[in-house]
Amino acid sequence: MTKQPTVLVTGGAGYVGSHVCKALHRSGFTPVTLDNLSTGHRQAVQWGPLEIGDVRDADFVAEAMTRHKTAAVLHFAALSLVGESAAKPYEYYDNNVGGAISLVAAMRRCGVSRIVFSSTCAIYGMPDRLPIEETEFARPINVYGRTKLAVENFLADTAATGAIRTVMLRYFNAAGADGDGNIGEAHTTETHLVPLAIQAALDPRRPLNVFGSDYPTADGTCERDYVHVEDLAEAHIQALAFLETTGGSRAYNLGTGNPVSVRQVIRAVERVLGTTVPVVEAPRRAGDPPRLFAAPGLAERDLGWVATRSDIESIVESAVRWHRSNVFSVAV
Ligand code: UFG
Repeated sequence: MTKQPTVLVTGGAGYVGSHVCKALHRSGFTPVTLDNLSTGHRQAVQWGPLEIGDVRDADFVAEAMTRHKTAAVLHFAALSLVGESAAKPYEYYDNNVGGAISLVAAMRRCGVSRIVFSSTCAIYGMPDRLPIEETEFARPINVYGRTKLAVENFLADTAATGAIRTVMLRYFNAAGADGDGNIGEAHTTETHLVPLAIQAALDPRRPLNVFGSDYPTADGTCERDYVHVEDLAEAHIQALAFLETTGGSRAYNLGTGNPVSVRQVIRAVERVLGTTVPVVEAPRRAGDPPRLFAAPGLAERDLGWVATRSDIESIVESAVRWHRSNVFSVAV
């Protein structure tokens, strides 16, 4: 039997990373997760080996890459809380930017050239035009977004020398959970709308704060582009295939192009659960752009990627299934 190609997945014990590991396994790869388990879950690593350690340790990463005969790298390991990033710039630059530099150093030592990077729409800040094209000027408005943009610049500059080839995937709002219910969103500190709305519906003692009802949008609440995490996972498989034949660096938006408001998310949760979501009308959250949604055409053209299960009801249904069965026992 021929051995399956091995892909190193940094942050493979995290939310998006673990769903990508499952998709890799389904597509005939062996995902090797490299994770320091600072926010990831050991129980989420189900489709390949786990190497516990830090991506900033280039010797450790290079040794793992060599031992597993790594063909390519998918890089998720990062700190990712927008609010926290303002209070901890050192930690965010060190983990996110320092981590990427150390990872690429290890790749070069091992002769591994392909890397798919987990980026974010946070690099766009307050965009001038909607829907957001990849050519939109990147002006992040928080530390988290600035660290992700710094990594994109570093990867693009390194790719320009021919040392690596990279695809950078700019996720819009990742949400939902695996259809089989064995992995899902399990952040110890939960800040995201979909899990918090579900939690509020199931526990009226924890109402949902609606951050701002006076935005210049149809119903006064912020609009976002929610993408099912399984759709995001597929894009990584397509990006890996793309990098087999294409060099340099490319960045792609991963979104649906459909803006969905906070109130529309709440209504979807209410429909799926057949109960009301108790809400508190709260002030605007600092740094929230009123509307963010992608022009997803470039990812479709180059990678063949289209979101197929990202309607808000499907996302919420999968998240509810996960919430009910959450085997990681994390309070979401
Ligand atoms: N919201 C609420 N109440 C909550 C939580 C969120 O009203 O309790 C609102 C927010 O104000 C926002 C929308 O729901 O309008 C979505 O908020 P999330 O926190 O779920 O997601 P964000 O759009 O803030 O964040 C996402 C990604 C980040 C990324 C950011 C870029 O999760 O990683 O987009 O803007 F940085």
